[in-house]
Amino acid sequence: MMPQRTDDISDLCEAVLSLSKVTAGERVCLLTTHVFDERVLDGFRIALGRLGADAVRLILPPQTAGPGWVNPIQLGSYAERILKGANMVVRVNTTRTVADVSMYTQVVREVLFSGVRWLDVNGEELLMRRLFPTQALIARTRGGAERMGKAQTLRITSPAGTDLVIRKRGRKGHAQIGVVDEPGRWDNFGFGLVACAPEEDQTQGRVVFDVGDSLGLFQGPYHNLMNERVTFHFEEGKIVRVEGGNLARAYEGYLKKMNRPEHCRIAHIGWGTHDRATWSGPSFTVGDWESYYGNVMLHLGHNIFDTPVANSGLGGRNKPSADWPIPQHSGGVILGHSLWLDGEQILEEGRIVPRDLQ
Ligand SMILES: [Fe+2]
Repeated sequence: MMPQRTDDISDLCEAVLSLSKVTAGERVCLLTTHVFDERVLDGFRIALGRLGADAVRLILPPQTAGPGWVNPIQLGSYAERILKGANMVVRVNTTRTVADVSMYTQVVREVLFSGVRWLDVNGEELLMRRLFPTQALIARTRGGAERMGKAQTLRITSPAGTDLVIRKRGRKGHAQIGVVDEPGRWDNFGFGLVACAPEEDQTQGRVVFDVGDSLGLFQGPYHNLMNERVTFHFEEGKIVRVEGGNLARAYEGYLKKMNRPEHCRIAHIGWGTHDRATWSGPSFTVGDWESYYGNVMLHLGHNIFDTPVANSGLGGRNKPSADWPIPQHSGGVILGHSLWLDGEQILEEGRIVPRDLQ
């Protein structure tokens, strides 16, 4: 039987933009590097036209120094001025073959603090469809970020031996829902998570990454999960020991070789809220990894990313030790953990406890 309707990618792009309340006459900048998927970008162009946006496309030329890439948007550049003139930036990422814009750079921070909404979109149609956010996801994630923002301490435990206490006095709660509906808000389409940046020197205890958990790209593609335990010991916010077998030794060597002291401290920690995110398998992506329902993501590294919006951004003080390149966060994602905000239990071995956050 023939399907009842077709749904062109421009319809999907229109739905993505409508969630972020793009209105007629709004200045929207569709941003990519010089390598992109024309079909997806065309989908956004048509959708922006249908919504009546005053849209432009900005294709960043490659910026290199010698054989290496540098940040494709430089501070003080014409590109920065164009972005600051927009009401909203839609940055579509369709390839990972060239250096791309990073939310952890000063230039993106300045664009956000000038009041521009910024939506990152992984422009793979399969993902955009599978991870399209529901109103329930948006509500439980916003609710979680509010709770996270008020909390002063966060504790995680697990049957495998995790027992870590984090202080986060004065640090905001960050919601990632794929929607930018207020000036200065940043988001990542297809993600669902709550996070925060801890106080830099207060984290104490140990975290056990168990078999089946993930150390992210350290082990190659995201679907390469761990086959042995690695335990990180923290004192005064810093990793002081990585305990375990060959994998632990290799990870210690990786951190040492990277030689970025900020990667010995937590960048952000929180939980996943996306009920359609998968764990492992060929379609397991960075969005699934960070957003998997009831996970705990614990990333190491820089966390100065911030926005003027209450539940968007980290506002940490763990600065990158070099402006470029900005390496991916290290650390990873752990399952089956329990999590408390002050005295309130939020996760019980990977299950979200409060009814309104489920
Ligand atoms: Fe991260």
